[in-house]
Amino acid sequence: MNPEAKIFDDIVNARRSVRKFDSGYKFDHQAVDRSIDRAILSANSSNMQLWEFYRITSDKAKKDIAEICLNQNAAKTANELLVFVARPDLWKQRRGKLIQHFQSIMPDKEERKAKLTYQYYEKWIPNLYDIRFPWFSDLAKKALILKNSSKPFMRDIFSRDVPIICHKSVALAAQTFMLSIKAEGYDSCPMEGLDSVRLKTYLNLPKAAEISMVIGVGKGLPEGVYGDRFRVPKSDVVFEL
Ligand SMILES: Cc1cc2nc3c(=O)[nH]c(=O)nc-3n(C[C@H](O)[C@H](O)[C@H](O)COP(=O)(O)O)c2cc1C
Repeated sequence: MNPEAKIFDDIVNARRSVRKFDSGYKFDHQAVDRSIDRAILSANSSNMQLWEFYRITSDKAKKDIAEICLNQNAAKTANELLVFVARPDLWKQRRGKLIQHFQSIMPDKEERKAKLTYQYYEKWIPNLYDIRFPWFSDLAKKALILKNSSKPFMRDIFSRDVPIICHKSVALAAQTFMLSIKAEGYDSCPMEGLDSVRLKTYLNLPKAAEISMVIGVGKGLPEGVYGDRFRVPKSDVVFEL
């Protein structure tokens, strides 16, 4: 085993969902900053980066958001709260930045690799993400799938799939964040037990934005770990073909 794998193993094993933090601890908020930098490097669909991370650090906002998180201990006692948000509605803006980047590294649009890349972002991405008229775009997608039914073709492309595509990437960022915060010597608890409508209003987010999860972060207390870790047997979840 690579020595790095042992370090990674230790971090993965040490991470637990911790529901009680030491509120009085002199918390290093820079650890969160560094962990966000690492989370941003997570794999994400088409590199569209349709995510946002809201850092909740002031006492007032932390108290308000803890209430929105149904006053869970993990939220009430956290040194900092983070809201991980999926933003399918920002596809045009993000795509614009990607295309700008491609123009700087691949100015010749006719070169083969460039051609494929521009085609992907100029034709396919709008096809997938433009769901302003879902009834119409879903019908067009159905036709596209029918036309390609004899070969392997991406089928989870309907308007209902778009937020799911974004949540997958946000969840990967959340896991990178939690492992990183553990490596920094702190603990975390992801939470979906919350009032997402109230939270969106509080953060002034548009209707199309979706709360993926809130993560409470802090110096975990031993009593914040609710019991030993349990996983179903590996044979129930791992299959080899
Ligand atoms: C998306 C997601 C949402 C979760 N929501 C909550 C929550 O609202 N409250 C809570 O106490 N734990 C929550 N958890 C933590 C899980 O209960 C926990 O990860 C699971 O029991 C496994 O324990 P471990 O993280 O210590 O390995 C959530 C975890 C995930 C991934």
